[in-house]
Amino acid sequence: MQKRKLGSTDLEFTTIGLGTWAIGGSGWAYGWGSQDENDSQRTILEALSLGINWIDTAAVYGLGRAETIAGKALKQAKQPVYIATKCGLIGAKNGKAIKPCLRQASVIKECEESLRRLNVEVIDLYQIHWPMPPEEIEEGFAALLRLKEQGKIRWAGVSNFSREQLAQISPLGHIASLQPPYSLLRRDVEKDSLDWCAEHRCGVVAYSPMQCGVLTGKVTAEWVASLADDDWRKTKLEYLQPEKLPCVISLVDRLREIAAKTGHNPAQLAVAWVLRRSEVTSAIVGARKPGQIREIIAAADWTLGAEDLTEIENAYQDFLSRSN
Ligand SMILES: NC(=O)c1ccc[n+]([C@@H]2O[C@H](COP(=O)([O-])OP(=O)(O)OC[C@H]3O[C@@H](n4cnc5c(N)ncnc54)[C@H](OP(=O)(O)O)[C@@H]3O)[C@@H](O)[C@H]2O)c1
Repeated sequence: MQKRKLGSTDLEFTTIGLGTWAIGGSGWAYGWGSQDENDSQRTILEALSLGINWIDTAAVYGLGRAETIAGKALKQAKQPVYIATKCGLIGAKNGKAIKPCLRQASVIKECEESLRRLNVEVIDLYQIHWPMPPEEIEEGFAALLRLKEQGKIRWAGVSNFSREQLAQISPLGHIASLQPPYSLLRRDVEKDSLDWCAEHRCGVVAYSPMQCGVLTGKVTAEWVASLADDDWRKTKLEYLQPEKLPCVISLVDRLREIAAKTGHNPAQLAVAWVLRRSEVTSAIVGARKPGQIREIIAAADWTLGAEDLTEIENAYQDFLSRSN
């Protein structure tokens, strides 16, 4: 699988990384319903066997569960794997409330806990999960730089930061990477910060390239109804709500036709579309069952042609005009 260098770091990431949000399972505010741990382990090992060389996780996913599972899988890996995790969102004991905190002492404590759960001595890429509270982002990034000096993390990155927020913390030290949402349904980063990242040699690891599964081609009203009540997508993901769902389904039908011309499917198209941008180092694809990431992997070696890109853009513009 192709690799791209993460900004000016020494990390060479495969163009698909494995995301572990859903692997965090249920029991917290943004859980994806119940998740079988055996499936999670097999999914991670499948990703590694396909050549994926990095995993994205976060302390908050399942309130530590995803990191623990990733740590166990890493011990069985047959080749070196980079681990990226995130800090700054603290889960309350009841699992429902999430409190943002970027105070230095809190970030340092979180890092120690992540190192223990992941069972590693150093985290390859440590990221601030959200720029919240906004008045603490400089303190939080300074804490990451301190952890780097101490050898606890190799590179310091951020997620969900705007261009202004990147510019605000950048004088403190080099930002290794930005992790923004980026999919055919969420394109804000194209206008906001991709050029900033290229100019500042800041890598870009794009999250939710299939918009939390919405662009995989399986979504119907029945599928939404079948989601577990504690799968956050059922009530909180705007693209699955009744006012947006028909337009989303029409868009995916168009993507299916475009993809089929070269023997691909909409999920692969969604990921290949994100990877068309040279500023993007890697797309973080989430998977929770064996077979899912195996199906997507072809996207890593699919360069969309000019005609496909025009048709995709037309489909997207039609979607915009119908959904607004
Ligand atoms: N920094 C942040 O704030 C942030 C936010 C979001 C995500 N992320 C990171 O980015 C990763 C990826 O994002 P994501 O998990 O939201 O979304 P995604 O990659 O757009 O979608 C992943 C989901 O799609 C479904 N899926 C995957 N492969 C499939 C296949 N072949 N056929 C059918 N369905 C399939 C699975 O859920 P079902 O089977 O349940 O449908 C899977 O969990 C996360 O895991 C996380 O590491 C970071």
